[in-house]
Amino acid sequence: MGIDSGFTPVPDRHAPIGIFDSGVGGLTVLRELERQLPQESALYFGDTARLPYGDRTPEEILTFGREIIGWMMDQGVKMVLMACNTSSALVLAQVQQEFAVPILGLICPGARAAAQAGRRVGVIATAATVASDAYRQAILEVDPSTQVWQVACPEFVPLIEQNRLQERHTREVAARYLQPLLAAEIDTLVYGCTHYPYLGAGF
Ligand code: DGL
Repeated sequence: MGIDSGFTPVPDRHAPIGIFDSGVGGLTVLRELERQLPQESALYFGDTARLPYGDRTPEEILTFGREIIGWMMDQGVKMVLMACNTSSALVLAQVQQEFAVPILGLICPGARAAAQAGRRVGVIATAATVASDAYRQAILEVDPSTQVWQVACPEFVPLIEQNRLQERHTREVAARYLQPLLAAEIDTLVYGCTHYPYLGAGF
């Protein structure tokens, strides 16, 4: 998993990296951060009182992002990782302008990896991320000849937060969401929400 930033590193390298998501999804990003940068410490915030973000308006997502990043800066983080595709898709550029700390997002690195991996890319994501069209635009920016199909999966996040991963109902929901992507004969699938790796094998 990669990250994107337009900033140079800040001086206090011992300060923690702030990581946030609507809930447990960002822990999939934290796990990868710990694997790739084991010397770093992290401050994690899961906004479980207000999830799912995927059903929220861009204005709400911006308000939540501002509150969380402001609080993280008060805690002395050296940078913030938006471990939330919905926030990254909707408000990353805005908060990058507002806060004097590097803020990293997920859409561009995921799009780069997808465009390099396949020709027929399926993206599963929250309703807000799909509505933003951020993944399609970012993938086509890397390779305009890639074909992209996006499917909103609003039932996934509540099921994952309730730890209903092994239920038959969850498998049926997944089959329904994936059906149009299988029909389109995709060769690459993007988990366009940080919660979704919990649905995959090995998590
Ligand atoms: N895990 C977040 C994302 O990557 C938010 C999911 C949600 O709360 O709807 O989009």
